[in-house]
Amino acid sequence: MRLAITGGAGYVGSHVALAALDAGHEVVVIDDLSLSTGDLVPPAARLVRCSIADGEALDRVFSESEFDAVLHFAGSSRVAESVERPDLYFQNNVVGSLTLLDAMRRARLRRIVFSSSAAVYGHPSCIPISEDAPIAPVSPYGDSKAMVEVALERYAARDWISAVSLRYFNAAGADPDGRSGETHSPETHLIPIILHAARTGSSVKIFGDDYDTPDGTCVRDYIHVADLARAHLLALGWLKERTGFRAFNLGTGDGYSVSEIIAAVEQVAGTTIRRERASRRPGDPAILVADPAAAREELGWKPTLSLQQIVEAAYAWHSSPRTMSNESIAETTRE
Ligand code: UFG
Repeated sequence: MRLAITGGAGYVGSHVALAALDAGHEVVVIDDLSLSTGDLVPPAARLVRCSIADGEALDRVFSESEFDAVLHFAGSSRVAESVERPDLYFQNNVVGSLTLLDAMRRARLRRIVFSSSAAVYGHPSCIPISEDAPIAPVSPYGDSKAMVEVALERYAARDWISAVSLRYFNAAGADPDGRSGETHSPETHLIPIILHAARTGSSVKIFGDDYDTPDGTCVRDYIHVADLARAHLLALGWLKERTGFRAFNLGTGDGYSVSEIIAAVEQVAGTTIRRERASRRPGDPAILVADPAAAREELGWKPTLSLQQIVEAAYAWHSSPRTMSNESIAETTRE
């Protein structure tokens, strides 16, 4: 297939681009490089520097080649930032996605796989979380993902498009062959922060140790980015055979606490990490764990990589000379 990957220069998008190329697809990355340098775009992909907010530029890209599907990752993805700047999130994520959908319709390009998030569920009342749990986001980031899902569902009901929305739990790890990995600036995600602490001897702030969880720290469902990437290719298969809209949770179904993640990194890095108690981070639910049954049954997707493999791949990526020279970890502050 010929695939357009918006946001393909970013963390998850670049891993999906790699998986698509490995599977023999042709890939055009559409990215304005506002949140990344372009370093992660696979050499075998063509990069078109263009914003999804620029409908005319999208028209040009879509008229130059006939695409079979769009994989849509472009957007802003920091929960805390979204609370400070909701305007950015509604503009970049919602208006940007609607502009993309309009351009797809003009080009008669029907299939889209959308990068969504467990943030659409807010503070779920039931664990594990299945797709029919209430959609109740608690941040503008979660709102923006939920709003785009509504548009996808409504457009699909009119038969303008066919869409799969993939709701990621905690994407983590790196390409097992070292071709891409997680590099955010500033970094707010737990595993890269712990790896940084392992290397520099700095301490890790644990945001809350009085949650109603087995060890008092928050529990999350960490899913290897290579497993996530595979799910996108399976979603393309789903779209080849069906029309309509469907959302799937992508997680393992297993939860690990912040303390357990620190211990896993200590084991892989062979070092002791200093811990610092800190207040709860506003907006953090105690436990987020997916029920991935629907993705297993309908997409045939099963995560294959363990927490140990997630941490090993992330460790290798963060220890590589390429990453260390680019890295800029901002001191994490209480958000
Ligand atoms: N944490 C710490 N210390 C840190 C960083 C994180 O204790 O320095 C804790 C957080 O409080 C949380 C857990 O580690 O309990 C994981 O935090 P991350 O920031 O790595 O990930 P989140 O669970 O906050 O966010 C993820 C995705 C978001 C998505 C959200 C859905 O990264 O894109 O899940 O709630 F929106």
